[in-house]
Amino acid sequence: MSAPLRIALAGLGTVGAGVIRLLETNGELIAQRAGREIQVTAVCARDRSKDRGIDLSPYAWEDDMTALAARDDVDVVVELVGGSDGPALALARNALNGGKHLVTANKAMIAHHGMELASVAEAGNAALKFEAAVAGGIPVIKGLGEGAAANAIDRLYGILNGTCNYILSQMESTGADFGDVLKDAQELGYAEADPTFDIEGVDAAHKLAILASIAFGTKLDFGAVDISGITKIRAADIAQADALGYVIRLLGTADVDTGSGEKRLLQRVQPYLVSKEHPLAAVDGPTNAVVLECNFAGRLLFEGAGAGDGPTASAVVADIVDIARGNFGAPFSLPAGALQPAAPADPGNRLSRFYMRFVVADRLGVLAEITAAMRDAGVSIESMIQHGHPEEGGDVLVAIVSHEGPESGVSAALDLLDGSPSLSEAPLVMRLLG
Ligand SMILES: NC(=O)c1ccc[n+]([C@@H]2O[C@H](COP(=O)([O-])OP(=O)(O)OC[C@H]3O[C@@H](n4cnc5c(N)ncnc54)[C@H](OP(=O)(O)O)[C@@H]3O)[C@@H](O)[C@H]2O)c1
Repeated sequence: MSAPLRIALAGLGTVGAGVIRLLETNGELIAQRAGREIQVTAVCARDRSKDRGIDLSPYAWEDDMTALAARDDVDVVVELVGGSDGPALALARNALNGGKHLVTANKAMIAHHGMELASVAEAGNAALKFEAAVAGGIPVIKGLGEGAAANAIDRLYGILNGTCNYILSQMESTGADFGDVLKDAQELGYAEADPTFDIEGVDAAHKLAILASIAFGTKLDFGAVDISGITKIRAADIAQADALGYVIRLLGTADVDTGSGEKRLLQRVQPYLVSKEHPLAAVDGPTNAVVLECNFAGRLLFEGAGAGDGPTASAVVADIVDIARGNFGAPFSLPAGALQPAAPADPGNRLSRFYMRFVVADRLGVLAEITAAMRDAGVSIESMIQHGHPEEGGDVLVAIVSHEGPESGVSAALDLLDGSPSLSEAPLVMRLLG
């Protein structure tokens, strides 16, 4: 057997402690598969005295995590701290600049600095691996970069945030409103105390931007992701979707448009109405799922736990095993310098059916105003339902489902209604999938 692969762990929280437990439990099996032992030599976290339920006595402790990158007895630095910048980024830069391999679960850092870090890694022949950063335990980066390597990817989409999926499926099964379900999710540990990144779609957008770069050979461009979260979804929307044969899911979607002769990328994170017959409709709770539409392999569906200590540690250690085997190439499949810049695609000519929900004053003429805007913008209405019968002067919900048509039509209709005193809040628009 070759010499052990020596790793240093920065961060001993949910994922870091999970990695130690996994290596303790499956160390022998992993050594056989990797062809060499994986040996933790040094660790770092903020609080040395914290009980983490693991024995840290065999490992050297560093108070300053950037010191891990300078140690002679470390081949791979494993960053499990988090945060797009700050100490995690400083550690990543130090490790790669010093010629050490880097494994991370940090989607925010990769989404913001992945191109820079990939260039540094490639220049030093070091590995930069981040399977755990996207969809936790699901080997989707490997699936995309290796399993589907022979295919052009036409489109990718999926459920990339377990917190949102848990909230939406709980709203579905209980009939409760968003705020109540979020509170329960926080109490049960499915949502953070500050859930903003999850419920506003930012976390899913980090993961989508990473996948899109690998799938389409384009420079990672997080700023180009069009992001909406799930905070505006009401129990009435879920009920309406159900009556139509749909569930609501927050999806990240990406595809390329080459119609204009140049590569343009459309990356979005938005709630969708997903047909109950589509495989993604059955993905509930905190589970994640990613669909790749490949030009030869067809539709590939990856599903599994998107978070948690065990699944995430599994993805981290799989990356370490790849490094132990010498099985690593360019972090984004193509060398960083060969990734093409792609301008954002204009979604205006994309065809879809749309669900549009308006909160309106309960008075005569309001429905006529909305339907006139649809007519004038060329949006064909398939069905229209009014929810609730409040006291006079209150608000009601009006839900419209359109026939398939271009997105530009819906935007034009909403522009016509913009500023109308009949609308009590901005309309909610969702596309229908399947
Ligand atoms: N949790 C998941 O299911 C999951 C899934 C996929 C990806 N990820 C990603 O994995 C990474 C880690 O997540 P996590 O859930 O394990 O986080 P966590 O439980 O909050 O753990 C973070 C760890 O980093 C340590 N730390 C924070 N700041 C530090 C500093 N300045 N110097 C040294 N150590 C510091 C903390 O030390 P103390 O323990 O002493 O406070 C803690 O051990 C993040 O990038 C996250 O996005 C997590």
